[in-house]
Parts: sequence; structure tokens; C-alpha cells
Amino acid sequence: MNPIFNESQDRNRPTVFENLLQTIGHTPIVKLQKIIQNYLPNTQHTFWVKLEYFNPGGSVKDRIAVSIIEQAEKRGHLRPGGTIIEATSGNTGLGLALVAAIKGYKTIFVMPDKISEEKRAILRAYGAKVVITPTAVEPEDPRSYLSVARKLVEMTPQSFYTNQYHNPDNPTQHYQTTGPEIWQQLGDKIDVFVAGAGTGGTISGVGKYLKEQKPSIQIVLADPVGSILYDLYYHKKVVEPPRPYKVEGVGEDMLPENVHFKYVDGAVQVSDKASFLMTRDLISKEGICVGPSSALALCAAMEWSKKLTKPSQILVLFPDNGRAYLSKAFNDTWMKENDFLPSPLRQKTVADLIHARGQSGTLIFADVGERVSEVVKKMKAAGISQLPIFSNGQIVGVIDEGDLLEPLVKGTLKAEEPIIHLMKGNVVFVENNLDLAGLNEHLLKGFVAFVKDGNQIQIITKIDFLNYLGDW
Ligand SMILES: Cc1ncc(COP(=O)(O)O)c(C=O)c1O
Repeated sequence: MNPIFNESQDRNRPTVFENLLQTIGHTPIVKLQKIIQNYLPNTQHTFWVKLEYFNPGGSVKDRIAVSIIEQAEKRGHLRPGGTIIEATSGNTGLGLALVAAIKGYKTIFVMPDKISEEKRAILRAYGAKVVITPTAVEPEDPRSYLSVARKLVEMTPQSFYTNQYHNPDNPTQHYQTTGPEIWQQLGDKIDVFVAGAGTGGTISGVGKYLKEQKPSIQIVLADPVGSILYDLYYHKKVVEPPRPYKVEGVGEDMLPENVHFKYVDGAVQVSDKASFLMTRDLISKEGICVGPSSALALCAAMEWSKKLTKPSQILVLFPDNGRAYLSKAFNDTWMKENDFLPSPLRQKTVADLIHARGQSGTLIFADVGERVSEVVKKMKAAGISQLPIFSNGQIVGVIDEGDLLEPLVKGTLKAEEPIIHLMKGNVVFVENNLDLAGLNEHLLKGFVAFVKDGNQIQIITKIDFLNYLGDW
């Protein structure tokens, strides 16, 4: 079989369909090129990726959505007019919402608050109800998304809980469709299959099928740092307690029944940072726009490949589309805030800025009781445009020339009025060791910052910040 292009299979595939559900599956496999040359210039292995974002809902989860619903209909668990409820990190929701729209069911989705706004918005567009729960709680906590979903099922008449974590129809669908598809596409050339596990459906179903065809195949689990699956696989217990991480859809803080380690030959842990940087490289070097869980799986595959002694064909499953992550992986500010991209502002502190600016002398200020005319004189004499206002020895606000000019011009302010009427309370005290990213956040919110430098109080204005950045 030609591993690059399977012509006979392509000729037999329909291209005109009764409805969108029939377009699910048969996703393409593509060979990686530049990115492998960049990361592993001397590798003897070939890396293939299966692009599940070609599914109509944009992810691998369309496959299980349609099968879980159709099985429930067959068993009489879901009847016309019923409500589908699921605890989902988004993609299963999209798949179910799509199936529900076509088949006429109502949907409610419960998801943790780390899930991107784009994913929530699209679910609502399909007509779903979205319930958000906190991420950083134990699975048994009544606020966890699994607990809330169970409660909703109890309270909603004619509801059906799809239960993707424990429903055996999930891995069965991958065993019946994704696995055979891969085998048809790559045949026995495939040596290694790498995927993440959220529910475990993909890796368990595909792993079982591929192992039945080729017992020597290696099935590798890609797990985020912070998930407990890696520990459970290698140590049969939790060594490192679960920690929050940013990659969505994969890794767990509990063991879903659909994770079947008996089909897994090894696991690789990958950091958030490596995953998010690889997400960007995939789109800029290969034109492949996928989410961070795909990039995580590729990082794991590259790491695993270093152990392989003979040239191998490695297939990595890419679960979803990168468009759902525009506000995260593809947003420079978010990437810097999370230290995934270098942020020069994090390297420097308020003390560095004050030092570079030089002592600005004794702080010039006004008292809340002083009159507008006195304040204007003070500003003019010192050549400054902004003045802190004190009351009983404490800074309580600031006034700038704009605050004075406009009401004076309009005639709504008299020169003999006390300044307290105009003062603004947007002041903040910062520490010398605050990094400039932190300072920037205050300034962006419109605050004027003050810092104690020895016995002196120093004012830091936007202009100081700008001068410092300009001199960098
Ligand atoms: C983005 C993403 N990647 C990977 C997975 C993992 O797939 P599975 O649930 O089959 O283990 C999921 C599952 O939710 C997902 O949403």
C-alpha cells in the first residue's frame, strides 16, 4: 500500500450527503515537513498527523457525539423532545450540539471556567445552555463540573447524560471507525500511534483496534504536566498531586473508566509552555491550525521518537481546530502573561525604572484644602502636569492639568474653590520590586503609581514609563 495516497479508497468515498452527520470521519492524514527538520534535524523517523478538525464540528468529538446519541435512541434512553446533558471541555459539546440541532434535541453543557470564551459562544449559537463551574475544585466537590452535570440530570425530566468519561460507546466508536480508518490509510507501515487522553476514548478505542491488527505497534499517551494519568500509568498511584494546567481537553485529575491502560505502551509528559509554543510553530511552519492538545501530542511523539532505534512511521492524532484558541495560544499578551513568551517587562522592576530616571527630588504635592489658584501656581512653578493630593499626611488622590483646564474654560470652576472637588482617587502604592508588567497593569487601568524610595515618596507616571521603555 502506498502510504502517501490511497487512491482506490478515495474513489469509493461519497462526496454528496443526506445530512451533515454523514460527513463525520474520514479525516486526512498529512506528513509533517519543516517542523520536524527544525526540531529533530537528524531524525530517521517520519511523522504523520491525523487532522480531526476536518470533522464538521471541528474536532474528533463529532465521532462519539453521533454514536452516543444514536445508541441512546436505539436503547430508548433518549426520546423526541429530550434534553442531552454533558460535562464537557467544549468539543464534545460542539459535536452533541450539532447532532442535537439536526435531530431536534435540547442541550445543556457544564464546563470548567478555564474553557475559552470562543468555545462557550459557539455552543450558545447552536442553542445550547452553558453552565460554567470553577476549575480548581476536587472532582467530588459539589461545584465540580461533573457533580453539577449529575445534579442537572437529576433535576431535568427526559434528560440523557451522555457521560463521555464512562460511557463505553465512546471508545467503541473509535474502535469501529477511527482505528479502521487509520489502518486503511497507513496500513501496517504504522509503528507508533500517539494521542492525548481526556476521556480516554480515542487512545483506548484506536489502541485496541491497531494492536489487534499489528501487535508490535506502540501506543503512546501524551499527558500534560499537572495531570495524574502519567503517574497512574507508570506508578499505579498519584505521585505528584494534580495541578491546574492550561492545555484544554487532555489530562485528568481522576481516572475515567474509558482510559484503558492495557492498550498503552508508554506515556510522555509535556509542559504547557512547550505545547503552546508548538501550537504556534504548527501554524506558522506547516499551516496546520490546531489547538494546544494537538501540539502537546506532537511534543510527546517527538520525545518518544528519540528512544526508537529503527526508522519508524509515527502517527499523531490532532483532536481539534486552533480557531477556538485565538484568545490564548494566538494572543501575544496572554502568552506573555503566562510566561510562554518572553516578556521583557517581567525582567525589570519599579526600582530599575526609578534608578534610570534618577531622583526626581522632593515630591511636590498639594493639600486637599488648597485652592485651585494655588495649585495651578505650584504646577506652573515646578513645570509639572500632575500633582498628588495629601490629606493628614496621606496621599488620597491626584489632579492633572486636564482636570483643571476643562472646567476653568467652561466656567464651571472658580479659582478660589478648594481642589478636593476635582481630585481623582486613582492612586496606587506599589513595591520597589514589582515587575514592570505589574506596573503596566496599574497604569493601563488609569492609576497613578507611587513608590517609597528610602524616605521619599516617588510618583511614577505614564510618561516616566514611556521614557524608560524608549531608552531601553
Ligand atoms: C481538545 C481535545 N483534545 C483531546 C481530547 C481527548 O480525547 P479523548 O476524550 O478521546 O481522550 C479532547 C477531549 O475532550 C479534547 O477536547
